[in-house]
Parts: sequence; structure tokens; C-alpha cells
Amino acid sequence: MINPVIRPRRLRTTPALRRLASETRLHPSELVLPMFVREGTGAAVPIQSMPGVVQHTVDSARRAVARAAEAGIGGIMLFGVPDVRDAVGTGATDPDGILNVATRALVTEVGDALVVQTDLCLDEFTDHGHCGVLSADGTVDNDTTLERYREMALVQAASGSQLLGLSGMMDGQVAAVREALDQSGYVDTAVLAYSAKYASAFYGPFRDAVESTLVGDRRSYQLDPANRREGVREALLDISEGADIVMVKPAGSYLDVLADVSAVSDIPVWAYQVSGEYAMIEAAAAHGWIDRRRAIEESVLSIRRAGADAVLTYWAVELADWLTERPTR
Ligand code: PBG
Repeated sequence: MINPVIRPRRLRTTPALRRLASETRLHPSELVLPMFVREGTGAAVPIQSMPGVVQHTVDSARRAVARAAEAGIGGIMLFGVPDVRDAVGTGATDPDGILNVATRALVTEVGDALVVQTDLCLDEFTDHGHCGVLSADGTVDNDTTLERYREMALVQAASGSQLLGLSGMMDGQVAAVREALDQSGYVDTAVLAYSAKYASAFYGPFRDAVESTLVGDRRSYQLDPANRREGVREALLDISEGADIVMVKPAGSYLDVLADVSAVSDIPVWAYQVSGEYAMIEAAAAHGWIDRRRAIEESVLSIRRAGADAVLTYWAVELADWLTERPTR
């Protein structure tokens, strides 16, 4: 029998050694909580396919954001759920539209305790559910949509959003929004580019969450899940257009793209652990088929390990609480 000289297990022998040898750590400040705020009064509404996540009212969102700030997370990403939708998504650029109202309320609530960010996309506000406006033949019109994005950017910046999440996957959206912001003096409003956003089945529960009216799919603008190189191409393009942060989305099934983008990017790289990733772990845990806490921790840790500097996750606050209760991860 030959005894191995090299023994990697040595560094795994005690909890103290494992902690010291750990290459990746999670911290509350690099977690961002996506939140849904619904128009109208009444109570927060649970989202069926996302147990534990709700459509907030402005009031319940206020309380949740104060709680999130207490937990020490880095920020929130706001999505609006309007009452009325139309072809061009008028609600998105109405200063009294739900997303802009909520933004003002929450910025006032938390001040500088965390970064209030907003989804800059038309899909929650259009009656057809697409991320842009349609041309006569029913396809999504890229350049007309850019005009709407520019208007949205100005309203969101005026509402106090510090970081605009460009999730629509229109060509040239970063340059268009950056130019609009700069021309209006919003030079310090930052742009988070959802650069490599794939046409994914894992957005399913989100569409419940925002009561999406989409028929069909987004394959003519979101990336083909088969394409790895193209994810890097999109990220590099957005960097050249002036993005402050680039993002890969979904996260768990796209760790290769995330690692690639992280290797070439000279700006922060984030990842979005989306609704379907959340729902899968919650569902398995509810059946007792998986250890919920360990699965959540491992899933987010893996996203960080692959190269994400920060992670959008629906577990942000709960995870932050765990991290501070047990700082020895
Ligand atoms: C589009 C948008 C989507 C998500 C975030 N922004 C939906 C889509 O592209 O269909 C999905 C987020 C999630 O699934 O958690 N505004």
C-alpha cells in the first residue's frame, strides 16, 4: 500500500481549519432584496409560487425595507405592479405610477442605510407584457423602446432611485439611458445592466408576482440559454456603453457565464438568483426533501464563488440574519 504524501484532507480536519481555509465568504452587504410593490391600498398579497414572498403595499414595503436595513443588506430592487396597463406602458413614466411612488416613499424611509434600486423595464406596465413597445407587425421595436427607457430613467432618477436596473435586453439601452441621465444632470445615477439575461423558464414565478400578461416568450430579445460566448459579448458591450455594474441572470444555471464575465470585467459583476431558483428550493424543502437552510446558503455561496460580487436574492434578509447570528461561515 502506498501512503499519499499530499493530503488535501488535512485542511478539512477541524471547523477552525476549514474556516481559515475557506475561499469564499458571504456578507449581508453584498445581498440585494428584490421587492414587489402593488398599486392600491389593502394588505400585502402572498405570491402563490413564491412562498414567503409578497406583493407589498407601499406601507408594508416601508416596514420591510426598514427591516432589511436593520439586517444590513446592501440594497433593494423594486418592481411595480400597476392596476392599469396599456400598449406603451404609460404607468412606467407617470411620476404617480406605483413604482415611482414606492421609490420616493422607500428612499425617504431608509435614507442612506441601503441602496434603493429600480427595475427599468416596460413589461410590468404593458398590456401585452413585453419589455418594449410593439411595432405594427407585433415584434418588439428596439429603438422606439429606447425612447421609453430614456423617459423612464429620468422619472426614476427624479424619484430618488440611485441605481437603475436595465432588464429589458434592448440593444443600446445602456448608452441611451446613460445619455438621457447625463443630459438632465443625473450624472450620479448609476446603471446596473442586466447584460447577460437569458430567456429562461426560471422566471415563471416572477410572472405570477407581477401578474404578467405576456403571451408567448421573450426569445427575440433575451439570450438563448445555449450561448455562453454571447453572454460575455453582451457584458463587454454594456461596459463600453457606460454601465456601472453588469449582471448575469438567472444565476444558478449560468455559473459558467458568470465566471467568464467575472474574468474579463473591470467593473462589478452581479448575479440574480431568480424566482424559479427560489421556488425550487422552497418546494423541495417544504416536502422535507432538502435541508432548506443549507441549500439556500450553498446556492448563494456558489454564485459568489463563481464570480458574483453581489447577489440579488429573495432570501437576502433571512440569509443576512443567519450570517450575523453565526459569523463563522
Ligand atoms: C423584467 C424582469 C423579469 C425578471 C426581472 N426583471 C422577468 C422577465 O424577464 O420575464 C425576473 C426575475 C425573477 O424571475 O425573479 N422586468
